[in-house]
Amino acid sequence: MARTKKRPAKKRGTRAYHGPAVVIHKNLAELDRKFLIHPLTHPKDLEKHPPRIIVKGKGMMMWDLEGKEYLDGFAGLWCMAVGHNHPKIIEAVHKQMKKLSYFTSFHGHSSPPSIELAAKLATMFNPAYNLTRTWFTCGGSETNETQFKMARLYWQLQGKTDKNKILSRRFSYHGMGLATTAATGIFPFHWNIDPLPAGFITVGAPYCYQCEWDKEYPGCDFECITDLEETIKNEGAETIAAFVAEPVIGSGGVIPPPKEYFPRVREICDKNNILLILDEVITGFGRTGKMFAHEHWGGIRPDMLSLAKGISSGHIPLGAAVMNAKIYDTIGEYQDERMPIMHGFTYMNHPVACAAGLANIEVIEQEGLVKRSEENGKYLLEGLRTLRKYKSVGDVRGLGLLAALELVGDREKRTPILPENSAPDCLVDECWKRGLYIRSSTMETVAVAPALIIDKKTIDRIIDILDDAIPAMEKQLLNK
Ligand SMILES: Cc1ncc(COP(=O)(O)O)c(C=O)c1O
Repeated sequence: MARTKKRPAKKRGTRAYHGPAVVIHKNLAELDRKFLIHPLTHPKDLEKHPPRIIVKGKGMMMWDLEGKEYLDGFAGLWCMAVGHNHPKIIEAVHKQMKKLSYFTSFHGHSSPPSIELAAKLATMFNPAYNLTRTWFTCGGSETNETQFKMARLYWQLQGKTDKNKILSRRFSYHGMGLATTAATGIFPFHWNIDPLPAGFITVGAPYCYQCEWDKEYPGCDFECITDLEETIKNEGAETIAAFVAEPVIGSGGVIPPPKEYFPRVREICDKNNILLILDEVITGFGRTGKMFAHEHWGGIRPDMLSLAKGISSGHIPLGAAVMNAKIYDTIGEYQDERMPIMHGFTYMNHPVACAAGLANIEVIEQEGLVKRSEENGKYLLEGLRTLRKYKSVGDVRGLGLLAALELVGDREKRTPILPENSAPDCLVDECWKRGLYIRSSTMETVAVAPALIIDKKTIDRIIDILDDAIPAMEKQLLNK
């Protein structure tokens, strides 16, 4: 009987599953080239260089498909505050997934992690700032899009229908939605996608190393501030809803402002009744050596605060549009009661993402990562400054664990190595070859922004690799 018993049927699809998996593994690079679209990547580049496929991460390190190990000197994309694959975040996500993987927060519905994270955030700011209202998004662009719409809504509901322009700064980066692209002051992002939404205006940035007005700080008359004041005067304060600014410009070249800059910006916004949106998508959660960068310079009160990246250390997409409760309450007071706030994304206040955010903040606080960022940030900057021995290293700047080298062909004139933008890419390539990932920007800079868990020994390793990679880059590009 037993011999004639039918063997249990093979699970359907078992072979079909294993077969293609092997083939897919072997051909991943080919499939990537064929099917995947990469942000900030020229399609022809992928034909020349195979995609770098990262398959594993742990703490400061990551590994590619061939098993080669890399030191992640850029925390993914300025986002992995607690490093790769933090077990506490993984556990929190796993637990929440098993309990409730998703439910909408539209129409007043809710879930515990989003409530707890909003309440937690409200305790993390200076209570005098009244930053107690938050909705969670999937990242920085959605967050800023939300802020711009709410700033306009706030004024328009009060009858100020002309008060709708958004001011931002040259070199700023605020995301890749249409409005956030229009607010972004790195102009290649604007090319060939016309028309951009109306009502976005840029003013000068406090980019002292390449001052638009050819002035030197200290000793200048803060022409960048004057530019802001004059723009407000010319446009009319009654037409401007908000001014959006990163406390330290990130993608535009890692540009920390002089200490006088933001206190004056706050005064100007107050004087002209303009909302100040601080975009802390990069700088939030310890990156600059304070929990939030607006705590520097004596403390700057944002009316709206944009957060993302470090809020979940990139483990799950999450952003937060935080606002002064007065803005929310005013909207509530004036909005027609038969009409909800007509804004929302499917994944707003996502329970799993918010669970990741809660666990991530707990790790940052319990492991004292903000203090570490402050101390090790100074050490990183000291190390990077030693690289000024190379003639191509023009400026070294940073705040906390957010730092950059600006590369120049001529130190006196501060002009780029030619062809423009080739040097940062070349240096980044040389670093990859030596097992280090850092990132170039279009502003002739190479940025270093490791996870906040980094220690001094690992910082030394970054500097050593750069010390070897910079001459290799110079050999290829200088004196051509
Ligand atoms: C300052 C700032 N704001 C907004 C964004 C957009 O965020 P996301 O890419 O998550 O949409 C970024 C992304 O790098 C950023 O650096």
